[in-house]
Amino acid sequence: KCFKSFQGEGCRTVPLSGHVGFDSLPDQLVNKSVNHGFCFNILCVGETGLGKSTLMDTLFNTKFEGEPASHSQPGVQLKSSTYDLQESNVNLKLTIVGTVGFGDQINKEDSYKPIVEFIDAQFEAYLQEELKIKRVLHNFHDSRIHACLYFIAPTGHSLKSLDLVTMKKLDSKVNIIPIIAKSDAISKSELTKFKIKITSELVSNGVQIYQFPTDDESVAEINGTMNAHLPFAVIGSTEEQKIGNKMMKIRQYPWGTVQVENETHCDFVKLREMLIRVNMEDLREQTHTRHYELYRRCKLEEMGFKDTDPDSKPFSLQETYEAKRNEFLGELQKKEEEMRQMFVQRVKEKEAELKEAEKELHEKFDRLKKLHQDEKKKLEDKKKSLDDEVNAFKQRKMAAELLQSQAQQAGGSQTLKREKERKNSGFL
Ligand code: GTP
Ligand code: MG
Repeated sequence: KCFKSFQGEGCRTVPLSGHVGFDSLPDQLVNKSVNHGFCFNILCVGETGLGKSTLMDTLFNTKFEGEPASHSQPGVQLKSSTYDLQESNVNLKLTIVGTVGFGDQINKEDSYKPIVEFIDAQFEAYLQEELKIKRVLHNFHDSRIHACLYFIAPTGHSLKSLDLVTMKKLDSKVNIIPIIAKSDAISKSELTKFKIKITSELVSNGVQIYQFPTDDESVAEINGTMNAHLPFAVIGSTEEQKIGNKMMKIRQYPWGTVQVENETHCDFVKLREMLIRVNMEDLREQTHTRHYELYRRCKLEEMGFKDTDPDSKPFSLQETYEAKRNEFLGELQKKEEEMRQMFVQRVKEKEAELKEAEKELHEKFDRLKKLHQDEKKKLEDKKKSLDDEVNAFKQRKMAAELLQSQAQQAGGSQTLKREKERKNSGFL
């Protein structure tokens, strides 16, 4: 036995002369994981009534409670439910998130937004836990979406623009597995053409869907074959019927019966195999190493963290923090200075405004004062002329009175004279 772990410099390969025991490491890992349990989160995106809930019930062979969504939602919402499942001795915490009201609005421009926001919110919650000083990641309920089942309506034509836009917005955030829903509604020859059409539309629009991994030898063949069958055409049903000596899930029509788990009838079994039995762990891993990593990188870069400085030298977290702090303090000072300048400027402006108003007031006061003085002068002149008139009148009056009295005096002496003359003439 030999140990070939590190091929780097300074590492030697040495033979072991007896059993040591670290070959049980994989078993230890398995035991630990089984004890801890697993979690898996599925997001079902698809128009109302396309069979999302039914397919989930069919996939996990159970009846998850859930009511049909209303068709009159003003916008798209996401509904999440978590269930504890157990198979053999393995515990699975399964979260199923479904879109509510997807495709029901007249204006579908923003329909993808709540979905993107939901996925990002789960990444953000995980990142915040990671960034905490006291982390409890082993106990943390990881709600990041591991698989997005995208339900395509069985139109037999092409993808709707809503589907293309939504998948394009989601492809860098989540593992998308496109499926043709209610595929019992489409004939065999139409289905082949429809699958080709969908694949070519996804390729020409640059939509990256999840590819089952072919790097692990044990699953490379089956995964390679299954990749060619995408998108899976599925049928969902929880109705069962005994066929032969086996209970089978079926959908019954007036003209016949379709068996959900019959591979010649639809791709349901292929989906279940690929999603649950073969690639569940890869979906979880891809979510962590690809999608979450991308989110984390963008978010940390947005926050100003870098691995290298502008000269491509390594940059530690501490240095980044200090650089960011200094940058922040500098900005704060700049802002303070700007505010001070603005304040001074405002004060100056207000001062000038007040001075202007004062000047205007003075001018108005002077104008009024002059007006008043003019008015006063006019009145004085008028008074003077009136006084003059009064004086002249008085003088004229006095002269008239004098004349009158003189006239009376003259009249009196004449009467006396005539009296004397009458006496003298002997009348008495
Ligand atoms: P909402 O939650 O309301 O958006 O609907 P949903 O997408 O969860 O659909 P649901 O599973 O409630 O199914 C809606 C109807 O479609 C039900 O009457 C189902 O029986 C039927 N249905 C589900 N799957 C299939 C299918 O594969 N083929 C056909 N023909 N009908 C199906
Ligand atoms: Mg539903």
